[in-house]
Amino acid sequence: FAFTDANMAWAEAQISKYPEGRQASAIIPLLWRAQEQEGWLSRPAIETVADMLGMAYIRALEVASFYFMFQLQPVGSVAHIQICGTTSCMICGAEDLMAVCQDKIAAKPHTLSADGKFSWEEVECLGSCANAPMAQIGKDYYEDLTVTRLGEIIDELAAGKVPVPGPQNGRYASEPL
Ligand code: FES
Repeated sequence: FAFTDANMAWAEAQISKYPEGRQASAIIPLLWRAQEQEGWLSRPAIETVADMLGMAYIRALEVASFYFMFQLQPVGSVAHIQICGTTSCMICGAEDLMAVCQDKIAAKPHTLSADGKFSWEEVECLGSCANAPMAQIGKDYYEDLTVTRLGEIIDELAAGKVPVPGPQNGRYASEPL
């Protein structure tokens, strides 16, 4: 793994923001930029970031493996779907949404679909509990999901469309049900 010239210049600018000896403070932005470049964080990518920051690989891996925003396996070329499985979403049907992913994408999380377009995983609370159940797809939240709507969203993405994010029933948390 090697950063592109533009990303390397950006990474060096981030590192320069921190005092000598504190370069490790730049780890999250650098990991994020590496993931943006490759789509996920391979071991060589994490090693490159660790080397740039004077850190042991294992310390960089500890950070990369802690946050759901970092993917340590390849993700679908069209979308990686993160289903919230924490209490509010679980009560409101998260397991049914995961069954949709198992049916339409792959039986196991972090596994590419047969066409390589999709992958999925269960994640912890994404802070949108009032609009449970929900999923994060790419950088967008899709809330108030139903089994039918999630299936439609996956089909729309597969067809090259961009489903409108937000509450899928048109409701916002501040509005009465
Ligand atoms: Fe799912 Fe909080 S429990 S967003």
